[in-house]
Amino acid sequence: MNTLSFRTKQMPEPKLIFDRSSAGRVGCNLPKADTPEVDLAAVLGEVREELNLPEVGELELLRHFTNLSHINFGIETGFYPLGSCTMKYNPKINEKTAGLPGFANLHPMQPVETIPGALDVLIGVQDMLCAITGFDEITLQPLAGAHGEMTCLMLIKAYYEARGEGQKRHIVLVPDSAHGTNPASAARCGYDVRPIPTNAEGNTDLEALEKALDDSVAALMLTNPSTLGLFEPNIEKICAMVHAAGGQVFCDGANMNAMVGTTRPGDHGFDCMHLNLHKTFSTPHGGGGPGCGAIGLMKHLEPYLPVPVIRRSEMKVIADYDRPKTIGRVSAFYGQFLMEVRAYTYLRAYGKEKMADISRYAVLNANYVRARLKDVLPPAHDRPCMHECILTAEKYKKENGVRALDISKRLIDYGFHPPTNYFPLIVPECFMIEPTETETKETLDEFCDALIQICHEAVENPDLLHDAPSTQIVGRLDETAAVKNLDVRWWPKS
Ligand SMILES: Cc1ncc(COP(=O)(O)O)c(C=O)c1O
Repeated sequence: MNTLSFRTKQMPEPKLIFDRSSAGRVGCNLPKADTPEVDLAAVLGEVREELNLPEVGELELLRHFTNLSHINFGIETGFYPLGSCTMKYNPKINEKTAGLPGFANLHPMQPVETIPGALDVLIGVQDMLCAITGFDEITLQPLAGAHGEMTCLMLIKAYYEARGEGQKRHIVLVPDSAHGTNPASAARCGYDVRPIPTNAEGNTDLEALEKALDDSVAALMLTNPSTLGLFEPNIEKICAMVHAAGGQVFCDGANMNAMVGTTRPGDHGFDCMHLNLHKTFSTPHGGGGPGCGAIGLMKHLEPYLPVPVIRRSEMKVIADYDRPKTIGRVSAFYGQFLMEVRAYTYLRAYGKEKMADISRYAVLNANYVRARLKDVLPPAHDRPCMHECILTAEKYKKENGVRALDISKRLIDYGFHPPTNYFPLIVPECFMIEPTETETKETLDEFCDALIQICHEAVENPDLLHDAPSTQIVGRLDETAAVKNLDVRWWPKS
């Protein structure tokens, strides 16, 4: 399989950088070595394989990547309503501060006494996140949302082990609407995962929860707002039920963009939560990193925090490794430091007074899209949504043989990034649209107009959608080929 098999016929085959390679061409002028030459083979052993690198000049290289950047799609080229991903605009000031030499040039091995400014940033972010979430403690170490989930479960496990209940409490309850990372994190920590159904209103089924609760349950992992884009109205009751059975309640806080400055999970009764700083607190993300799955927790879990714990001691900030009950390290050094600098900048730029604007506009925008599209793509639940709306294209599948994926692919022809499809799985032919707070009404209207037009096309000319996208350098991709067959990536033709 090669790139050609995915392409529409009209477009010329795009060239890989390897196709432009010619032996002996170079694109850089390295300075003379000022250290003695070393015989690599003597140090590393015989080289087993020649490196197959493209040999191109500087201009070819520039053209290649400039052209690639033009056919790429990102938040700065267009609307990117990918549900559950919070693809908001990341202000440039974040990059400026992260690029300041005093931050960017720090070395993680530097003696801690030489980085008081960096420790101030870390504790500044921790303090602001404590205030926003209502938790007693924050650690910034986990490197992704899923990593934050896992770290919370490790703390819960350590807590029960210290109370002699580690063996007994081996079950983690996870609602069926949860992000796939929740059950995966629980299983990774050695827990048995039991699903809890969602009821017809889109809330946690309380009867099913009651039945599932006993002294074998270590925790419930609850996403609020849920992945159905709904605020769980029974949140305090649910936390009380789990606590009464002796369990802990973890909040998947990846959807915190719906609540920043408006309400605090720590006040709802949760024991711990993770945040996706790379979503809510504005850092470019996607493609696997970088990330920060900061976690918040109540005092009873604090002894088990991963080291180092960044805290105040006698008028200064220290990196504390002297923690006898710690679960150990979950990442190297202090986590993803330059992400913390970006989050710090973002939080300070908003300030306490304006923080609630984030969630208010995110929720308003999602409800606006929901209201404008309700006649062509009905919402999965008949009530206001939070920061994202979940719509269904089931009728087009039944009546016109057009699936949600076909509608999404056609959106590309109209210049929009498709929303998330088929998640949460419990909604058939689903769209998960998360506009975020940084989009204007004009953009939302253009997007809704396009979707309404596409829904008419689905009825009148379904093949237009089946063949979409038809305006791009690549046509309909095989959704799974790239992970199953490495040849579709970037190797040169042999
Ligand atoms: C609801 C929810 N939980 C957990 C995660 C996992 O976060 P990450 O991809 O950073 O591991 C995501 C990702 O967007 C999410 O949307």
